[in-house]
Amino acid sequence: MKKISLTGIKPTGDLHIGNYFGAIKPALELAEEYDARYFIADYHALNTMKDPKELNSTIRQVAAGWLAGGLNPEKVIFYRQSSIPEVFELTTMFMAFTAKGLMNRAHAYKDAINKNKENGKTGEETDSGINMGLFTYPVLMAADIIIFDSDIVPVGKDQVQHIEMAQDIAQSINANYGQQVLKIPQAAVQKDVAVVPGLDGRKMSKSYGNIIPLFAPEKTLRKTIMRITTNSQSVEEPKDPDTSQIFQLYKLFSNADEQAALANRYRAGGMGWGEAKEELFQAVNRLLTPIRERYETYMADIPALDKILEQGAQKARPIAAATVKRLRKAAGIDL
Ligand code: TRP
Repeated sequence: MKKISLTGIKPTGDLHIGNYFGAIKPALELAEEYDARYFIADYHALNTMKDPKELNSTIRQVAAGWLAGGLNPEKVIFYRQSSIPEVFELTTMFMAFTAKGLMNRAHAYKDAINKNKENGKTGEETDSGINMGLFTYPVLMAADIIIFDSDIVPVGKDQVQHIEMAQDIAQSINANYGQQVLKIPQAAVQKDVAVVPGLDGRKMSKSYGNIIPLFAPEKTLRKTIMRITTNSQSVEEPKDPDTSQIFQLYKLFSNADEQAALANRYRAGGMGWGEAKEELFQAVNRLLTPIRERYETYMADIPALDKILEQGAQKARPIAAATVKRLRKAAGIDL
């Protein structure tokens, strides 16, 4: 039997090429080798997104984005977290085994507290603006993972603590009942994943405002690429491809021969940054055009998109129900 890979995707708008190379592509590569279960973590998003229109459309954008990026819903069980009520039943049971102190130590919660302190809040006020969804975020995430008997969870480094908390919760449940009721998941942090530089050379991130969007129309894509910051070297001067983020980005979109050829042109001099950006645009546009077209097709038929997610949920629910049943039985709830 194949091992199980599971990950949750927080719905955020404006998918960018950093998301594609850092999350979508590596997760889809794992889906070749593992039984993959990938889902949109819409209830997690509710903690921060209170505008219904925005949440609704972001869920669809992210779903269409992953499908356009190559997720095959015949192979990967692809669903919305909110479609699996068993997850919330498991979350409730997990609550009984989760030390409050464990949650106090969660990075996201501690960061929120520290932000309040920096803003001069003291005492009970340091909890201001923090809802219980944020505080108990790791419990829901543990249920997301453990309910599908996941072996590995492909995530970024920032999520490793959450996986460790999921392990803690599952282990204390197994220890309490003296049996392996729940499978202990492992984080799979991919080390060889490219760090994608943004327009300003820092890591590409929505919060830095330095992204190259995945689905921008061609004209916007070219304009965005032309905004990449460069030094003031003249056209004639030879340029170092290894220190240029234009070239680092180009590498993601080209093969070894193309890279060697363009690196030679950088080093020879006579090529200005404008031309280097044009080369980059051509390569990016070549790879993104079919993805963008698939994305637009998905977004043009929302009922069909929703149906794909619903069919995923239909496949997921019996698996989830079996885990809940196992734990209810072990706990003495099911007599
Ligand atoms: N917390 C993850 C993030 O912010 C999203 C997520 C929710 C998740 N549930 C999960 C990731 C379960 C992996 C497994 O990116």
